[in-house]
Amino acid sequence: MNAHAVENPSGAAPILEVRGLRTHFFTRAGVVKAVDGVDLTLAPGEILGLVGESGSGKSITGFSLIGLLDEPGRVVDGEIRFNGEDLRHASAEQWRALRGRDIAMIFQDPMMTLNPVLRVDTQMIEAVRAHARVSREQARQRALQTLSMVGIPAPEERLRAYPHQLSGGMRQRVAIAIALLNSPRLIIADEPTTALDVTIQGQILFEVQKLCRETGTALIWITHDLAVVAGLADRVAVMYAGRVVETGSTADVIGHPMHPYTHGLIASIPTPESRGRPLMQIPGMTPSLLNLPRGCAFRGRCPRATDACLAEPQPEQVRPGQWVRCWHAGGPRNP
Ligand SMILES: Nc1ncnc2c1ncn2[C@@H]1O[C@H](COP(=O)(O)OP(=O)(O)OP(=O)(O)O)[C@@H](O)[C@H]1O
Ligand SMILES: [Mg+2]
Repeated sequence: MNAHAVENPSGAAPILEVRGLRTHFFTRAGVVKAVDGVDLTLAPGEILGLVGESGSGKSITGFSLIGLLDEPGRVVDGEIRFNGEDLRHASAEQWRALRGRDIAMIFQDPMMTLNPVLRVDTQMIEAVRAHARVSREQARQRALQTLSMVGIPAPEERLRAYPHQLSGGMRQRVAIAIALLNSPRLIIADEPTTALDVTIQGQILFEVQKLCRETGTALIWITHDLAVVAGLADRVAVMYAGRVVETGSTADVIGHPMHPYTHGLIASIPTPESRGRPLMQIPGMTPSLLNLPRGCAFRGRCPRATDACLAEPQPEQVRPGQWVRCWHAGGPRNP
């Protein structure tokens, strides 16, 4: 068994178990290994922050988990178990039943969810009635309820609006409300608040966290911003070049990062102490996923790299529930 995914502090049976997920794109230039051996475990009500730089494979991980990969992308290996059900081999029909009912996705762009030519009420009522035998009025009441949950003022009025009549922040809240409509067991949120201003982002994070606590909905929150997950997530998984290089409780990963890449991410967050001083940056760029170097993919940018890093590091537990893929986790050349 892959020990990397065993951690589950709450002890509840996991709602999602991902083992050795590999999603590759078969392009003319070669095989892009966008996701290359990802393990994740999520308990009911748990919030996991999936963080990493642009191109590290966060969105493709999310799309793989909800069966929304486009050609030439394919899940080529691994296991995805949701509530005990095998999703890796789910049929199109199974996916249609699951999506929007048991698993929902919130995209960075709300117009991926919203239909521009339909009023909000039409879309929300349809989204409820696609999965539950309820009257239009009952569905409308549910729509009102979820709009209130995400802090939308005057929800009655918003229901009658078309998407273009709403501000960007409102549109995103409506998209989030649609994800919540059928009380899914799992929500995958791909940077949904990145484009919003910080006060609205804070409010939405607060509401979403409250909802997970109250309803037991599990959440994967994808973001490049470690500061966002610090206040939101129970656990964090840090992705680099298609792999999870460090995972653990948010307090451990942020308080005692063991992977040099996590170190770099944390050091590049502005703090009151860093004011007026140049922020630390991780040197170099994410490597191309077409031709990854042998061994640790981070070694070209890593201050701790040695010849040992020419071999690929396997996940090791450094403290209970905290796993790191690094030959030099915690030292000896600690930056
Ligand atoms: N259709 C595609 N064809 C080829 N490669 C792709 C395709 N879609 C994504 N990729 C590659 O997969 C890798 C991971 O992409 P992904 O969108 O998951 O990154 P991300 O971590 O979500 O980044 P960002 O923070 O910018 O959203 C990238 O290198 C990207 O170029
Ligand atoms: Mg992305």
